[in-house]
Amino acid sequence: MEEKQEQVVAMPRIGDPAPKFTAVTTQGTINFPEDYKGNWVILFSHPADFTPVCTSEFMTFATMEEQFEKANCKLVGLSVDGLYSHIAWLRTIKDKIEYRGMKDVEVKFPLIEDITMKVANLYGMIQPGEDDVKAVRAVFFIDPTGKIRTIIYYPLSLGRNFDEIYRVLIALQAADKFGVATPADWRPGDEVIVPPAGSCGTAKERMEKKDEDVHCYDWFFCTKKLDKEKVLDAILKK
Ligand code: BEZ
Repeated sequence: MEEKQEQVVAMPRIGDPAPKFTAVTTQGTINFPEDYKGNWVILFSHPADFTPVCTSEFMTFATMEEQFEKANCKLVGLSVDGLYSHIAWLRTIKDKIEYRGMKDVEVKFPLIEDITMKVANLYGMIQPGEDDVKAVRAVFFIDPTGKIRTIIYYPLSLGRNFDEIYRVLIALQAADKFGVATPADWRPGDEVIVPPAGSCGTAKERMEKKDEDVHCYDWFFCTKKLDKEKVLDAILKK
């Protein structure tokens, strides 16, 4: 029996520029990431059209599209299916599927056709230990300069948590806008972590200064309040 050759594939990493490509989508041809400069963009893959988990995900994402748009974020989907499969699947979703109160759902964001797997391979979305002919559920968060800022992968059987995807987007933008880090499970209105030691006076100095806004749990772990309204005003379009 022939042994499967282990292939070493270069995967895009956090901090890398998003790999460039041109692709046909359900909304016409796109040049990625150039067409999205100035916007955040979430590029995500799914294993196959006309499958249940993917259908539940697309309906959820499409229903939340306006919410992402308000946070200056465009959505772009991908699977290794062809354009006509994509069109037929999205039409079926709109015309026939009612799921968890969602119905008549129109997917308006582009869905890339990638039958050659060119884009899926470029982004490390084909992970042969999981499946060698379908993309895993990858989520790439790309900032307005075209840099990859977060990557999340899920296996084929696991539907994504879209509240978490939205939370990541808002947390990334809050960290950029306010020069802070965000603790576990952070949501707007929660305390944020003030800059790490060295970047703006050490936490030890801040502890000794007894800054009223800052609460230090120890010399290396200080937080401060950041109003929910301030965060949302800075991030969401009016
Ligand atoms: C799904 O979306 O339901 C699915 C797709 C590929 C493999 C397993 C599940």
